[in-house]
Amino acid sequence: MAASLEDVPSESLMSEVLRRLRCSSKPDKRLILIGPPGSGKGTQSPIIKDEYCLCHLATGDMLRAAVAAKTPLGIKAKESMNNGELVSDDLVVGIIDEAMKKTSCQKGFILDGFPRTVVQAEKLDEMLQKQGAKIDKVLNFAIDDAILEERITGRWIHPSSGRSYHTKFQPPKVPGVDDVTGEPLIQRKDDTAEVLKSRLDAFHRQTEPVINYYSTKGVVASLHAEKPPKEVTSEVKNVLSS
Ligand code: AP5
Repeated sequence: MAASLEDVPSESLMSEVLRRLRCSSKPDKRLILIGPPGSGKGTQSPIIKDEYCLCHLATGDMLRAAVAAKTPLGIKAKESMNNGELVSDDLVVGIIDEAMKKTSCQKGFILDGFPRTVVQAEKLDEMLQKQGAKIDKVLNFAIDDAILEERITGRWIHPSSGRSYHTKFQPPKVPGVDDVTGEPLIQRKDDTAEVLKSRLDAFHRQTEPVINYYSTKGVVASLHAEKPPKEVTSEVKNVLSS
């Protein structure tokens, strides 16, 4: 249940009002982030979300939360995820359809990790058509597979916020601890060199055709995802301001 406004501290209320005022001048945007595991989608998403006042919908995070809570969805998804395979289209389409209705998605959304098959892309088009909306941009995190093992095996995440760190490229201030909350960081079950092979295989076979699907609609912008995080952020901002 939502907290009564009377119980919200004045500073929090003021900063939320100011945030909404700033957001009211931003254009609506509906974005897809697509790229192989470790290409930087989850790293760039919070920056884009704050800059453009969008909601961040990451199917991987939603599925991991469902697995941790042992919901019926989580029980169905767990094995495929641990093996680095995709879960069924019906499961993820259902969670995205529901999530897009959130108030925080009013100014648009960042889809991170969805759609991952052409069937998912077609279903997304159908959902958006019903609202008279369409995808504005697909950011393609283009990167060579060879770079990804080091990124994936060195990653540590803060499960409740989705913040992601790297022992070498993006270390937390204190090893093993989230910078913001001070809570412990964890490693994902599927972040091993072995499971990465299956995840990359799924990406090349099932997800790359999605890039072609959107290329024919003229909305794909390719990024140099092998560059350092700040340079990738600059490329993202250039693409989104044009
Ligand atoms: P999901 O959680 O979506 O994983 P993924 O796509 O494999 O992507 P990652 O989260 O691994 O990578 P990322 O690009 O976000 O990298 P990050 O920014 O963290 O999916 C997991 C599973 O869920 C799937 O395998 C599937 O089973 C299931 N699933 C999810 N969606 C589905 C769908 N739609 N359909 C079916 N099944 C679905 O960066 C990685 C590391 O590198 C970090 O440590 C970071 O600090 C570092 N880093 C980031 N950018 C840079 C940089 N520029 N330079 C150096 N280091 C960097």
